[in-house]
Amino acid sequence: MNNFTFYSPTYFVFGRGTENEAGKYVSRFGGTKVLIHYGGGSVKKSGLLDRVKTSLDGAGIDYVELGGVMPNPRSGLVYEGIDLCRQEKVDFILAVGGGSTIDSSKAIAAGVLYDGDFWDYYSTDLQVTEALPVGTILTIAAAGSEGSQGSVITHEDGMLKRSTNSDAIRPVFSILNPELTFTLPPEQTANGVADIMAHVFERYFTNTKEVEVTDRLCEAILLTMIKESPKVMENPSDYGARANIMWAGMVAHNNLCGVGRDQDWSSHDMEHELSALYDVAHGAGLAVMFPAWMKYVMKHDINRFAQIAVRVWGCHMDYQNPEVTALEGIKKLEEFWRSLGLPITFAELGAKEEDIPFMVKNIGLKEGESMGSFVPLYNEDLEKIYRLAL
Ligand code: NZQ
Ligand code: ZN
Repeated sequence: MNNFTFYSPTYFVFGRGTENEAGKYVSRFGGTKVLIHYGGGSVKKSGLLDRVKTSLDGAGIDYVELGGVMPNPRSGLVYEGIDLCRQEKVDFILAVGGGSTIDSSKAIAAGVLYDGDFWDYYSTDLQVTEALPVGTILTIAAAGSEGSQGSVITHEDGMLKRSTNSDAIRPVFSILNPELTFTLPPEQTANGVADIMAHVFERYFTNTKEVEVTDRLCEAILLTMIKESPKVMENPSDYGARANIMWAGMVAHNNLCGVGRDQDWSSHDMEHELSALYDVAHGAGLAVMFPAWMKYVMKHDINRFAQIAVRVWGCHMDYQNPEVTALEGIKKLEEFWRSLGLPITFAELGAKEEDIPFMVKNIGLKEGESMGSFVPLYNEDLEKIYRLAL
């Protein structure tokens, strides 16, 4: 196991009706003037936004609001949010929505306290060191941004989708009420499942040895997703299943199961090019990219792929030929994602073969540079993996 530090200071408030405590927690974390940030309208339709405002009113907290965050959130609204916060002397950002709204909130929170262009944090090595506090009220189990140090924004100029990571933008509190996810359309539920599982895979496929505890945590999350996901596809109001998935989504990405081990993340970077170019949902893009990446790299450590096939997918170990077991595990993953209605191929996403060179170029690896850690990938590898996903 590698040396590590782990700092996960978010205060989690989990369960039914907890959104009604938003005012109390904003106050506890020092907010006096709040920006309520939200997406395209689901929080208005469900009545959640009104309940949040009532809670803030009850705590005597003043607020302004900014809606309109799109999935794959854009820089334009971030600039707007930064201006609004400065004008209104906002000292706390409350994200009400999914990963896109939370990521946009984190970008605004960092941008308000920075003299330069917030995009510097996403396009260079510059680290966010200070940001306004962000609280979240989560409405979809997926990106894990409610507990993560990440934020992903797409800049309209060039449609570049880039991320930044810093403990300074981890939410100070996150309210997780599984009931809020009952209204999710089935495809959004499924996209979330794929993203949660992908966050585990990015950590599971590692070259670091003696990481039994995090291996087992990863496997527990995957087994939970396999058991609970069909239940919510069948019955979107299954509270128990929604609750398990919601917490799995947080644990999968606050890095509890990733500490002390090298992580890969090349499938995520390849997916970000798909969602930047075609504006597809991140989870759907991952469902296409991950099996292709797995097939391409599995020979590097066939035993690790056989291990997950046996422990998670219940495959029988073929000791003479572990590759058979490994491939069976990948097939089970594809079948599982398909059973949830997720796409598995480029064509199902509406992605085109002729765009592959453009996506590879946009990832931006220079000559001789690689990405990923399980197997370092060069431009020619990226091209082959995209083609495997056709
Ligand atoms: O905008 P509204 O109207 O709210 O609709 C949203 C949106 O259309 C809808 N939705 C959310 N909750 C709902 C609901 N509809 C009905 N009922 C509800 N309860 O679902 C759609 C998707 O929402 P979005 O916020 O985009 O989903 P998600 O949480 O999957 O976030 C995706 C973004 O997160 C980034 C992705 O790249 C993508 O941009 N990621 C962020 C990470 C992080 N910050 O740590 C890590 C991830 O790997 C990921 O890259
Ligand atoms: Zn993801």
